[in-house]
Amino acid sequence: MISIAIDGPAGAGKSTIAKKVAKKLSFIYVDTGAMYRAMALYLHRNGISADDAGEIAKACGGAEISIAYRDGEQVVLLNGENVNPYLRTQEVSEMASKSSAVPQVRTRLVQLQRELAAEQNVVMDGRDIGTVVLPDAQVKIYLTATVGVRAKRRFLELREKGENPVYEEIAAEIADRDRRDMTRKVAPLRQADDAVLVDTSDMTIEEVTEHILGIIRSRV
Ligand code: DC
Repeated sequence: MISIAIDGPAGAGKSTIAKKVAKKLSFIYVDTGAMYRAMALYLHRNGISADDAGEIAKACGGAEISIAYRDGEQVVLLNGENVNPYLRTQEVSEMASKSSAVPQVRTRLVQLQRELAAEQNVVMDGRDIGTVVLPDAQVKIYLTATVGVRAKRRFLELREKGENPVYEEIAAEIADRDRRDMTRKVAPLRQADDAVLVDTSDMTIEEVTEHILGIIRSRV
């Protein structure tokens, strides 16, 4: 089996790029952030505080998370329910960022991620794919962009949806999530020693996709 690991901070364009790369290669795209978000939704629905690691550790065993593919899209199932429509809210983002620091949460989801990669060729995106989940991945990419660029992309995305975002708030949230993801004790976000760094700040989606496909073709 071939595994492509794509890691990096929120808003670097991982999911957009990983989806396109997977499609080109006819590999399965696995969005691991969506799994952490489904777990976060479960905790939120059960009234668990995002700051109570003990309760999160106890409660996470009640969430059965699996993934399925419908019309080529990854669908996350939480205890059998398709929860895709509920994964992108502010509360879920906040809870996912905090609960993903709890070891019991990671153990459950990392196991599922490894099973998926053992069964099929995958492009998997997340924070710890190249460092922890699939250390033997044939290609590892660390995708990043400046906080300013990532905040601007998110700002435009929200405006497009008809919302009225405040740029400074988005930039502060992104910086805050970076800090939490990079400084947590378990599986912090960092570039694997053998990962290729791709800074997307001044690149279009098409340029990044082609660049990464070139890296993959030279190695696989
Ligand atoms: O990529 P995302 O924004 O959907 O991820 C949601 C949260 O899950 C984010 O705060 C970091 C965490 N996450 C993680 O800890 N490990 C992963 N492999 C993927 C996501």
